[in-house]
Amino acid sequence: MSILVCGGAGYIGSHVVRALIDAGDDVVVLDNLITGHVDAVHEKAKLELGDLKDDEFMKRVFNENKIDGVIDFAAFSLVGESVKEPLKYFENNFYGTLCLLKHMKSYKVNKIVFSSTAATYGEPENIPILENDRTFPTNPYGESKLSVEKMLKWCDKAYGIKYTALRYFNVAGAHPSGEIGEDHDPETHLIPIILEVALGKREKINIYGDDYPTMDGTCIRDYIHVMDLADAHILALKRLNAGNPSDIFNLGNGEGFSVKEVLDIARNVTGHAILSEISSRRDGDPAKLIANSNRSIKELNWIPKYNSLEKIIETAWNWHQNHPHGYQD
Ligand code: UFG
Repeated sequence: MSILVCGGAGYIGSHVVRALIDAGDDVVVLDNLITGHVDAVHEKAKLELGDLKDDEFMKRVFNENKIDGVIDFAAFSLVGESVKEPLKYFENNFYGTLCLLKHMKSYKVNKIVFSSTAATYGEPENIPILENDRTFPTNPYGESKLSVEKMLKWCDKAYGIKYTALRYFNVAGAHPSGEIGEDHDPETHLIPIILEVALGKREKINIYGDDYPTMDGTCIRDYIHVMDLADAHILALKRLNAGNPSDIFNLGNGEGFSVKEVLDIARNVTGHAILSEISSRRDGDPAKLIANSNRSIKELNWIPKYNSLEKIIETAWNWHQNHPHGYQD
């Protein structure tokens, strides 16, 4: 199969591209490199540099490449920034995907796997969270992704474009080779920041609040390895190719770790003390997010392989040690 991966030079996209190539697929990566890295793109993938919102560019990409299906990661994903600049998020995440769907419709490409998020739920009603629980995003990032899910539903009805939306929980880790991994600027995520402290690139990690209603007062999250996530995308495409209907799935390990627990495991994995300090809460952080991913396991036949936080942090540590300055190294 020939797959168009939008945002394939980014953190999650680049790992999915690897997995697709390892599975024998042909891959066209479309990326504007605003947050992506050329060096993250596998040498066997064809790279198309440009933007989803550029009509002429998109026509050329669809004319020149045979495309059987699309995986769409192209998005901004900083929750805090989205609150300050909602239009930037709706323009890129919602309007960008709208443009992509217009071209898919014109060129009769009718399968898409969409990168969605646990942020669509907002403050959860139940733990663990099920796909049909209430969706009430507390930030424009989550709202932009939920809006795309809704647009996809109507595009399926009207044009027969089949979709699978995958709602990721906290993605972490790196390819086991240590060749690709997480490199954001600015970095805002917990595990890479902790590892930057271990590397001596930062003095300490600020723990955002220890007064949440959790056992140690810090926020609880469900961490999932980026390669397990990659497997789920391949299975989701396979499921659509087998003629199954559009659907939405959670992707997490179903186990929650507090910020302090993550820190302790990282101290064990790295052998570094990793200085921390309690600071005030970060706006918009729910106390606890844990997925119920039973439907992904059953319907996608998804079997997570890196389902322990030690394994997740080990692969991330391997990447950070080999690439202390990310793709600049
Ligand atoms: N945290 C700290 N200190 C830091 C960074 C993070 O204490 O320096 C805490 C956060 O407050 C949170 C936890 O560590 O409790 C995890 O934070 P991340 O920033 O790593 O991840 P989030 O849970 O905020 O965000 C993730 C994804 C988003 C997605 C969101 C859904 O990265 O894209 O889950 O809620 F929107």
